Amino acid sequence: MNILKLYRLRYQLIRQIFFIINAKIKLFYKIFFKKDKDTQKLINNGYIHLKSIIPLEFINYLENKYQKFDPKEQEVVCQRDLENKDLEKIFFYFNQNQIMDIVKDYLGKKIYSYQNVYHYLTETKSSVSSWQPHHDCKSNRLKAYIWISNNSSKTHPLYYLKKTNLTLKLWMDQNDSRFPKIDKKMDEIFGKPGDVIIFDTHGIHSNFKTGTEPRKTVITTFENIGIFSRINPFKKKGKDILKFHNGIYLN
Ligand SMILES: [Fe+2]
Repeated sequence: MNILKLYRLRYQLIRQIFFIINAKIKLFYKIFFKKDKDTQKLINNGYIHLKSIIPLEFINYLENKYQKFDPKEQEVVCQRDLENKDLEKIFFYFNQNQIMDIVKDYLGKKIYSYQNVYHYLTETKSSVSSWQPHHDCKSNRLKAYIWISNNSSKTHPLYYLKKTNLTLKLWMDQNDSRFPKIDKKMDEIFGKPGDVIIFDTHGIHSNFKTGTEPRKTVITTFENIGIFSRINPFKKKGKDILKFHNGIYLN
């Protein structure tokens, strides 16, 4: 890593350092006062698995409404944007179960939510692109997976390399964020219908897709907005991101 590269990546680096220091202080405070166990776990490991959050009737409703995909499809992922009224209902359950509190506690008070989709993994195998251990090149942001389908021995889990959410990473482009030869053991996380798994996409996640059982989830994405964030609403890049995603602001 030369000096010029470091200079070019200075904002990326500063943002991460700030987030890490802030998260560690928060963690210390929460451990000391014995509060917010789930946020503690999220800061510590980079992910949390919350069980039986979404009622099964609503899970069935989502599956019946959005599941129109062919398991033999060549693409690994098929997805459809959620309708607003369904997203509102999901956020209602998230609020009811303090998930929004956890998201804000971890990322900050001003949150933008986007890429909220019904997400289907087909039978297709893959070991390229997102189907390698990687981080998302977006600094710290959260994804929540609502598990819809039952698992079998061939279901592709969510892979996560614990504690990599608070490590410094530098990247110029996507190639710098892929780690196909990782030798560390990643956690394999399987949900049950109605479970919610939340993880920081700055941590190393995903892996070769060898499982062929189709997997159904709903995925929602949360990111902080602010003058020090990747999404700075006062800068052109931030404005472009907001325009591109056309998401919603959470207060
Ligand atoms: Fe990813």
